[in-house]
Amino acid sequence: MSSLQVTRGTRDITAPEIYYWQQLETTARQILQQAAYTEIRTPIFEATELFSRGIGEATDIVGKEMYTFNDRGDRSLTLRPEGTAGVARSYIENGLFAQGGVQRLWYMGAMFRYERPQAGRQRQFHQLGVEVLGSADARADAEAIAIASDFLQALGLTDLVVDLNSVGSAEDRVNYRQALVDYFTPFIDDLDADSRDRLTRNPLRILDSKDKRTQEICQDAPSILDYLSTDSQEHFAKVQLLLSDLQISYRLNPRLVRGLDYYTRTAFEIQSTALGAQSAVCGGGRYDRLIAELGGADVPAVGWAIGLERLVILLQQIATAPKANVDFYIVSRGEAAEIKSLAIAQILRKAGFVTELDITGSKFDKQLKRASNAEAKAAIIIGDAEIAAAQVQIKWLATGDQEAIAIADLVTHLQSN
Ligand code: HAM
Repeated sequence: MSSLQVTRGTRDITAPEIYYWQQLETTARQILQQAAYTEIRTPIFEATELFSRGIGEATDIVGKEMYTFNDRGDRSLTLRPEGTAGVARSYIENGLFAQGGVQRLWYMGAMFRYERPQAGRQRQFHQLGVEVLGSADARADAEAIAIASDFLQALGLTDLVVDLNSVGSAEDRVNYRQALVDYFTPFIDDLDADSRDRLTRNPLRILDSKDKRTQEICQDAPSILDYLSTDSQEHFAKVQLLLSDLQISYRLNPRLVRGLDYYTRTAFEIQSTALGAQSAVCGGGRYDRLIAELGGADVPAVGWAIGLERLVILLQQIATAPKANVDFYIVSRGEAAEIKSLAIAQILRKAGFVTELDITGSKFDKQLKRASNAEAKAAIIIGDAEIAAAQVQIKWLATGDQEAIAIADLVTHLQSN
């Protein structure tokens, strides 16, 4: 049998990379807590219908990318390809609407899409997302974008651009769809196969085609901005005013269409020039119809999700790996010393020191080598002689200085150093 390997499009995250993940998770929690967002955890699999209705039958995600299976009770289930639909379902099911006011929620976790894996694109990937439910106010859109931007800045990332568009309301899009069909139909033979297929199913998505010839044709396609109702125009102008007031720079991109069908009005992406083809770090927008379409009340909402694999790629470019910091490394030899070593490790941990205990039983010099590899401040050395005297030796690794100290005084002594 060939050796077992991780499945294509999935990967193990091990040290030192894991320290970048921990760093961004801690920063995310801080930023979101400051903005009074509450964490929500929804299931990793849900009824397939939630995603087909929520994200849209005509999208690539629903059409080609979902991990769908029947369980033993013959229910069709799907591993979540994104977080918004699950949050919307939970909002409806748990009656969060009845609580009134605005719900600001965040989540972090694994998502699954059957895509062709490449740098920054995986089949199991991770998103940090926020959903703000219950407000049609342009401040909700601008605040959400500001928080994404705060988070990325707090991580030290630069070279980021906010692409901003309005995809209009469902009503605005009826006329725009027709205008696109009228525009693209004469070019039908020049369009790539996917775009030809989209012409009837989802003409807006043609604007997102990566095919060169199709892109050329798109150059002169009608702009959504010419089809916005007065209300949608006003909302879009307000979002821009608020972003300018916050000094968040953005560029208008009337061709920005997102890969999910639930968007209305504001749509945005944050792109990084330091990533390759998969340059979108964050994608989001307003989705005023989704809750109602899934059977809930008429609740406007806005949100975004950041792809964490892409963030980690960016963090690795700008900073050396953060380290696990060990304060003290305990080395011991001899039966009595080894028994006492565990109790001492526990005492130091309870006192708040990061403490690693060597349990290899190898010679002192080998254990001390590991203490310095761990970059501990000091090695705490325990041998038969120390046990007999109820002491330990502290070897400060930066200087090589060594001192004996009574076990009873160890914590106070280490705290004063
Ligand atoms: P999305 O644009 O499909 O939006 O995904 C958001 C981000 O997730 C992308 O910009 C990218 O960074 C990351 N991402 C997507 N697919 C992959 C993949 N296969 N591998 C690695 N990273 C990936 C959504 O998912 C919406 N739910 C966002 C949203 C929330 N809109 C409103 N609320």
